Order: sequence, then structure tokens, then C-alpha cells
Amino acid sequence: MTRDHPRPVVLRKKLSRSIRQGHPWIYRDALNVRDVLENGAVVEVRTRDGRPIARGFWDERSPIAVRVLEAGGPGHRFANADSLVTERLRAALDRRLERLDLSKTNAFRWVHGENDLLPGVHVDFYADTAVVRFDGDGPRAFYEPFETRLRLAAQPRLPIRAVIDRSAPRTGVETDEREIVENSVRFVVDLVRGQKGGLFIDQRENRIRVAGRARGNSVLNLFGYTGGFAVHAAVAGAQSTDTVDMARPVIEAARRNFELNNLPMDRARFHILDVFTFLTAAVQRGDRWDIVVSDPPSFAPKKAAVHAARQTYQRLHELASAVTTPGGLLCASSCSSHFGKDDFLASIEAGVRQAGREWVFEAQYGAAFDHPVLTAFPEGDYLKFVMGRVH
Ligand SMILES: C[S@@+](CC[C@H](N)C(=O)[O-])C[C@H]1O[C@@H](n2cnc3c(N)ncnc32)[C@H](O)[C@@H]1O
Repeated sequence: MTRDHPRPVVLRKKLSRSIRQGHPWIYRDALNVRDVLENGAVVEVRTRDGRPIARGFWDERSPIAVRVLEAGGPGHRFANADSLVTERLRAALDRRLERLDLSKTNAFRWVHGENDLLPGVHVDFYADTAVVRFDGDGPRAFYEPFETRLRLAAQPRLPIRAVIDRSAPRTGVETDEREIVENSVRFVVDLVRGQKGGLFIDQRENRIRVAGRARGNSVLNLFGYTGGFAVHAAVAGAQSTDTVDMARPVIEAARRNFELNNLPMDRARFHILDVFTFLTAAVQRGDRWDIVVSDPPSFAPKKAAVHAARQTYQRLHELASAVTTPGGLLCASSCSSHFGKDDFLASIEAGVRQAGREWVFEAQYGAAFDHPVLTAFPEGDYLKFVMGRVH
């Protein structure tokens, strides 16, 4: 790989400012490229008058042709790409280990891509295994040999038993499970079949926020996956929990997670159902819960889907507030970066009003600390978690 001799690519569009401010993506149509470049090739980004302003690496196929590693003004000396990666892997791990007690929480995001200045790669750590996802072949080629780099950066602090590449096809492996702890609550995580690398660890701090309010209350966990919010609420003394998800395997896993924590099963109910169907029936029956948590998949995975998403979120919030006890707590989440904070809050307010109820906002949170957000990269600010009272 031509790491020491970066190949020039020239900006066609006026992007120098946003690149210098730290935006890590350059789209193909913003560049003039004369050479044929291979995946992972280190490139030097130049202005039209030939001034180098950044270094990054090439992706042959993605619309994001260059992911920027380092930007710099006149006279800047760019670092060697290999050293940068090693340093940044170590620094990212330092930031996690400074704040985590591994005996209580041993599932965390070690590398959060662009937001940890390691564009195009994500690493989650589960007990003793690193689960890696590359955003395409450009990043995979650039970070090669990534497993060796990870092991080196982890020494001697974090023993790694295995490294799994979730973005590479794995044939013949059906499941690969680990037991982890999250704030001392136990979960079994399927590293092969599980969504998002196994567990939605970005909601870790929000699960604690909900658990903090759960004692003595009934809790409805919508889009419950393997029971994260409900298990934490039950451990914290919830009077009852209902977990709803349309995927049978995740509901079975949720049940196992309750058992794993020796929780009373007569106070835990599980529903393999579409959330909208479940809520519509619950509204008709007049069922109510003191705390309702809604954590759907992204309704707006693309910009073009935002209009439809607005309606879906609003309908969901209408139904969710209709089943919240008067004065109860609605915790609504969205993991779509295309659907902004203001839009999301508006969808809650409109939905609650539509249900004939009143909304009193309490607080808004984002992803857990191991999912940092780079100010210059709004695309990376995806998770919203809003708590408020429904009167
Ligand atoms: C973002 S995850 C939820 C993560 C979970 N709150 C946690 O803390 O682990 C979304 C879940 O919604 C489920 N899902 C998607 N659409 C659904 C629907 N219409 N009805 C029920 N579940 C749905 C998926 O199976 C997935 O488990």
C-alpha cells in the first residue's frame, strides 16, 4: 500500500473550509482524479491551486470517495497514516477504559468510526471479543491488518480472545454467544445473528435513566429487542414489564436474559407482535403503563424517507402516549440522523396532542459516552432519547 507516497486528488468544489473544520467525507463528485486508485490507497487532497489540505484514503465504489484522516493548513506536516491509526486506536481505548469499570460493564464501543477519527470502521467489545464492522472495501483495505493493529493497541490492558468481522460473510457459523455485564446486569449477546453487533450499547446510559424511575412502576418496552430496557427496569424493582418485538428470536433471548438475572417471571410478559398492532389493541382495551419506552429502528434511513418518517413517528407517539398512565413517563427514541432533534420533538408533541393528552418535556439525551459526536460531523449525531410526562 502506498502509505508513504500519498496520491494526489484535487478538489473541484469549494470544500476546503468544511474539510479543515473536520468534516471527514469527500464525495466522488467533488473531486478530480487522474490516476486509477485502489481501495485503501492513501491520498493527499489538494486545492485547485495545488495546496495540500488533507490526507485520507480512497474508496473505489462508495459515493464517499475519500475518508479524511487528517486536515491541515499551510505548512502542516501530515503524520504517517499507520502511526495515526495505532495512536487513535489506543487513544479511543484509553477514553473508554478511563470511565468504565470492566467488572461491572464489559460491553462497549471501542471505535466509533469518524467520531473517533478512525473513519469507516466501528469496533464493539463484548467480554473478550472485538466485533468489527467496516463501511465497505475502501476502509477494509486501508485498515488491513486490522486484527493485528487491534491486538497491539489493546495490550496489555484488554485481553482479546477473538476478533469477528461482522461486515465479512461468515459461512457455517450460526451463533457465537457471549455473556456480558452492563452495569452489573447480565445479558447473553449473539455476536453473529444479533443486530448492531449484538447489543444496542448506545442506549446503555438511557437504560439506567429508565431503571432509575422504574421502582414500583409498570413498564412497557416497545421494540424491546433482547429486553435491555425491561431487564434493567425489572432489576431496579419495576412492578411489571411488558416487552414487545416482532422478531421471535429476540423475544426468546429477552426471556433468557430475565432468567439469567433471576428475575421473577410472573411479572415479565413478552409479546411477539408488531408494535402498532399491539398498541392499537392496548388502546382499545384501555391498558395503561406508568413508563412507556419506545426505541424503534430508523424510520428514515435515507433523507428521502423523512416525510414518511415524520408521520410514522407521530402515529407511534400518539399510540404510545394513549397507553401512558396520566402523569406517567414517555421515553421516546429515534436513531435516524436524517430526522433531526427539532423534528423529533415536534413528532412527540404532535402525537401526544393527537391522543388528546398533554406533554411536559423533561430531558433529552443522546448515545452513551462511548459513542462520541464530532461537532463538524452532524451525520454522526443520530441517537435521540427524550423523556417527558404525559398528562
Ligand atoms: C433499535 S432496536 C431496539 C433496541 C432495544 N431497545 C435495546 O435497548 O436493546 C429495534 C427493534 O425493533 C424491532 N422492530 C422493528 N420494527 C418493529 C415493529 N413494527 N414492531 C415490533 N418490533 C419491531 C426489531 O426487531 C428490533 O429488535
